[in-house]
Amino acid sequence: MTALFSPLSLRETTIPNRVMVSPMCQYSCEARDGVATDWHRTHLTSRAVGGAGLVMTEATAVEGRGRISPEDLGIWNDAQASALEPITEFVRDQGSVPGIQLAHAGRKASTSRPWAGHEPLGIDDGGWEVVGPSGDPWPYDDAAPPTRKLSRADIEDVVESFRDAAERALAAGFAVAEVHAAHGYLLHEFCSPVTNHREDEYGGDFDGRTRLTREVTAAVREVWPDDRPVFVRLSATDWLPDRESWTVDDSVRLADDLADVGADLIDVSGGGITPDSRPESAGPNYQLPYAERIRTESDADIAVGAVGGITTPEQADAIVANDRADLTIVGREHLRDPYFALHAAAALDATDEVEGPPQYRRAFGF
Ligand SMILES: Cc1cc2nc3c(=O)[nH]c(=O)nc-3n(C[C@H](O)[C@H](O)[C@H](O)COP(=O)(O)O)c2cc1C
Repeated sequence: MTALFSPLSLRETTIPNRVMVSPMCQYSCEARDGVATDWHRTHLTSRAVGGAGLVMTEATAVEGRGRISPEDLGIWNDAQASALEPITEFVRDQGSVPGIQLAHAGRKASTSRPWAGHEPLGIDDGGWEVVGPSGDPWPYDDAAPPTRKLSRADIEDVVESFRDAAERALAAGFAVAEVHAAHGYLLHEFCSPVTNHREDEYGGDFDGRTRLTREVTAAVREVWPDDRPVFVRLSATDWLPDRESWTVDDSVRLADDLADVGADLIDVSGGGITPDSRPESAGPNYQLPYAERIRTESDADIAVGAVGGITTPEQADAIVANDRADLTIVGREHLRDPYFALHAAAALDATDEVEGPPQYRRAFGF
């Protein structure tokens, strides 16, 4: 069997192949309501038709303050969850597994969407209060709205928001819940010494800074059924070697701790904590070495997903065949080609290993 088309079983959930659609913000809700639209339905279901084994939603805000832009998807109320239900149903009908990325944007919240300039939005411009582990705001070029440091009580509310969001996601039919702890958003802001200057038990040393991510993952795990996996997306490194920052060693250690609270897979991304927290180059497989390190160096029996610069069938297949990661996570290539997985099956001479839609059989030959 072709490695890329071998199923991956995590708990009692079987992902039919090793291709996951990476979470990608669509900024396409009607302003402020966080409810999925025809755009989300088309975007997500067409990647399921295209053969991806796991279709992950974009960052879906667990509370209104946790949106990046007013047009972000949300799951802080039942109307938002109901709108996602027909999408998960259709994704399942295609034989794919529906996943949801649960997110809070922290100090990177309240901006206009990219094609409106990605500008910070003050309260008077339709924005909202921005919160973070410390009071320092994202360093925008121009004056930015202030960031409020979360109190202990606020932190408890954040944990509850993730728990409630997971319960709604379950009711909406998702099989995988992914905690977004990467890219400089709230949970990553707590983990990284670059952005966490707290002196209470949610700051300071490694255990303090990672406490919120562990608590959120544990809370999601508590409400997520035993037969379904929980993923956590981490930025493996801040890519800021010139200062005290989050490193791959930290990620290996956190992967162990997250396995202890019931995480099943680390989705290994990178960067985003400051404007200069970027890789030197973002070529093919640019984050794969971090996934590989977590896979081999973690003491826990935890799976890893590799993301970043995966664009060809041969490349994705080799990652799995050579045991470098358990899952390949494909972002932008899925925007260019919703049928990436079906095209991969054809390219790898594996069409007899996939169950593509019969409506498209004459084109793909499965
Ligand atoms: C349009 C777009 C939106 C994105 N939104 C998210 C998101 O909601 N959550 C997330 O964790 N990463 C997000 N990312 C990052 C991707 O999931 C992925 O990690 C990144 O694009 C690298 O993978 P690639 O080289 O396959 O595109 C986004 C990327 C793009 C291009």
